[in-house]
Amino acid sequence: MGGNQLRRGDSRDQVRGMDDRIAGELPDHVRRNRMVWDSGLSAGFAARARRQWAADPHWGIWAVPQTELAVLPADLVGKDVIDLGCGTGYLSAWIARAGGRPVGIDNSEQQLATARAMQDEFDVHFPLLHGNAEQVPFPDASFDLAISEHGAVAWCDPYVWIPEAARLLRPGGELIFMRNSDLLTLCTPDAGPAETSLRRDQFGLARIEDADGAVIFHLPHGPMIRLLRTCGFVVEELLEVEPGQGAATVFDYVDIDWARRWPSEEVWRVRLSDAGAD
Ligand SMILES: C[S@@+](CC[C@H](N)C(=O)[O-])C[C@H]1O[C@@H](n2cnc3c(N)ncnc32)[C@H](O)[C@@H]1O
Repeated sequence: MGGNQLRRGDSRDQVRGMDDRIAGELPDHVRRNRMVWDSGLSAGFAARARRQWAADPHWGIWAVPQTELAVLPADLVGKDVIDLGCGTGYLSAWIARAGGRPVGIDNSEQQLATARAMQDEFDVHFPLLHGNAEQVPFPDASFDLAISEHGAVAWCDPYVWIPEAARLLRPGGELIFMRNSDLLTLCTPDAGPAETSLRRDQFGLARIEDADGAVIFHLPHGPMIRLLRTCGFVVEELLEVEPGQGAATVFDYVDIDWARRWPSEEVWRVRLSDAGAD
């Protein structure tokens, strides 16, 4: 990364200056996804942000409480955390309230505008960086925890953002990500909600181009485990999400009947081994 790096404690102006330098070098999928998020998708997330900032930690499209789905580590006090694709920032806010020291990075200025408004409203402040989670301007080994809830994990190239997360973590650091399950991805056609039959091939699955111009990524379990091991991670847990009683979602790509039969989302908890990559 050369000298273009931030350090914890840098001012908001320094962080914004770095945004501009990164913007000229965006890969095509990052540029396309920025447009999709800034021009449309961010509005629905802005409308929900206040409720999410106010709530206790909960996860994914079914809002499963942290007490039922232990995604965050029990002790976050003093931990340096990078939230990769932080969106409206509620996850980082929960981490800050638990004593952690989050930094959020997101590709959408609109999402970050909501995050900044929420920071002021709830008086919970942490650095927010406008940039690409595949190339984070912090030195090696800056963080104890890297986390992504449907952020970088869905919108970034896994062969770039996962090595980048490994670079950012200290030895023994943890990477946690929540994404759609393999099965949900395989049962979702190009248009419309998940069906009860397979609609995609699994072999070769990695990059999916949406009709609206977005590019999303889903690496199935086998290649994902290979990639994680290559980057020096040990898989500690794979949690498959079952919605609780009365769960509902505002998203239209899967319904509750489907999600009660099969895992619609999954949470990976992996740790950087002290020994480093294979
Ligand atoms: C579904 S949201 C998840 C964020 C958060 N959990 C939420 O629900 O608000 C996906 C986020 O990933 C961001 N994103 C997409 N591509 C990105 C990239 N290359 N680097 C950083 N963030 C990215 C989007 O801008 C969006 O805010």
